[in-house]
Amino acid sequence: MRAVIAFGVAILPLVIGITWKPPEKATDFSLYQIYPRSYKDNDGDGIGDLRGVIQRLDHFAETNVQAIWLSPILRSPMVDFGYDISNFREIEPIFGTMKDFEDLLKAAHDRNLSVLLDFVPNHTSVEHEWFQKSLQGIPPYDNYYTWHPGRMENGTRKPPNNWVSVYNGPAWTWRDERQAYYLHQFTVQQPDLNYHNPNVRREMEDILRFWLDKGVDGFRIDAMTFIYEDQRFLDEPLSGQTDDPNSYYYTEKIYTSDQQSNYDILPTWRQVLDKYKQPKYMVVEPFGNTEKTMKYYYYGIDFPFNLDLITNLTVHSTAADIKHIVDTWYNISLEGGTPNWVAGNHDRNRLIKRMGEPRARAVTTFVLLLPGATITYYGEEIGMTEGYISWEDTVDPLGCTSNKAQYQSVSRDPARTPFQWNNSVSAGFSSNSHTWLPVNSNYKTLNLADEKKDNNSYYALYEKLSKLKKSPHFKRGNLVTKVLDEYVFAFARETEKHGSVYAITNFGDKDSTVDLSVFDNIPSKLDVYYASTISNILSWESVVQVRRVTIPAASVVILTTPNANFVTG
Ligand code: GLC
Ligand code: MG
Repeated sequence: MRAVIAFGVAILPLVIGITWKPPEKATDFSLYQIYPRSYKDNDGDGIGDLRGVIQRLDHFAETNVQAIWLSPILRSPMVDFGYDISNFREIEPIFGTMKDFEDLLKAAHDRNLSVLLDFVPNHTSVEHEWFQKSLQGIPPYDNYYTWHPGRMENGTRKPPNNWVSVYNGPAWTWRDERQAYYLHQFTVQQPDLNYHNPNVRREMEDILRFWLDKGVDGFRIDAMTFIYEDQRFLDEPLSGQTDDPNSYYYTEKIYTSDQQSNYDILPTWRQVLDKYKQPKYMVVEPFGNTEKTMKYYYYGIDFPFNLDLITNLTVHSTAADIKHIVDTWYNISLEGGTPNWVAGNHDRNRLIKRMGEPRARAVTTFVLLLPGATITYYGEEIGMTEGYISWEDTVDPLGCTSNKAQYQSVSRDPARTPFQWNNSVSAGFSSNSHTWLPVNSNYKTLNLADEKKDNNSYYALYEKLSKLKKSPHFKRGNLVTKVLDEYVFAFARETEKHGSVYAITNFGDKDSTVDLSVFDNIPSKLDVYYASTISNILSWESVVQVRRVTIPAASVVILTTPNANFVTG
């Protein structure tokens, strides 16, 4: 009888298909952002889709990715490529069907991958039924958005105040049907929802539940800083940065950004998530300074994205600048928060464009080896660069609302080109030679398949570091940071039992010889795990004396205690 019970228990998980165990917490995990239009096209229309994602889920097997975040896949007229949602409960047909999504979820869970959706609570599309009804003043939708009759100036009607949209121009648009202006912090086609209305808050909680019931593992919350606006509708003070009243930077965002209510609503969403047995993730997209961003940690989320490696790190950063960023985010772990490291996303220039390849390798080292969560924007693992996109090919609303002379400085298209899988037609992204954004012309040499064969490729670095991240050195804690020279920053991940890892980055233009014995208990010799400059790998010995180590200009060197006991599988 006993044996039978034991047998029964053992086979139960197989019978009912529970093979998947989500990670307990976001700590030390690795999250990969898929921009679905550009990851993999299965049906050959030149636009990526959900079946394409399913086909390429094995891509994560060797790099220790535990979760994927899909940029929006819900029904949308695609003005802002999915960030303008017209139905929160339907899959956009360009990407596939609900069945495709359910299959994706199952295929991901079978591989122990969690799936996070992009939750876009701030606004809907103008095509959403709620907006269409609100436009006609039909209750209860009449107050789902922010409507205002405007103000009269010398007999002419003007928007209620000087608020500017992120996409430039007034944040208010007049609609004759309603004889009022509606508020939109993003494009004209993205009206802001009115969170002062409890019905709206309830609707959005229902939408969270709808997807949680389907089995999604959490959400990346879009545009968190824009949710609430001050209801007095006062003018914002001028920033002094520009005289152009249509520029987003014209005003100081004291009434339209970072309102306290944006923080206060998060615990109510957390409560919804916590009703589920499996742990669910909630990560937030911030848009402000570090202090306002870090404040999100105290409102029940897993973490707000740390964008400091994008916004505060440059090719000119000194070691002290870098140490400051790293220490600031590491310190949150002392209070139980999860530090996290982001080097790029669909809104920013790609890492290599900003930093150049040699320094980008150093940043990738930060992202993968510092304590906390690693975030990877698709293509970063192979060091994708930005191609040229002509004015005619430009589709991003930020680019299109600019002009031919300036669009290149604002368009997000170059950072969103199709993933470069191999050197075949359309880089193996699509069987169609015409894709929604042109494939970067460098795909013949820069692609995953070729990089897998080259042990000095960007992917080889990413894979090597991903394996290291799995080792006991990289559990929470044990970080020591040092400034070794004006441009030489180093950190150690130390353990008592398993040896230690030292990463030394030189952001300067000159080689620098440093003394690593400033790290306590460092042995006199270290093994070379990785060095980013080819010539140096060749001329380097495999063992270095810690008192005199030369770190080449713009490079990263990773050293380990001899015979360190890594998990490298
Ligand atoms: C977020 C998204 C961005 C989008 C905007 C409006 O900032 O990351 O891509 O345009 O929100 O939804
Ligand atoms: Mg808003």
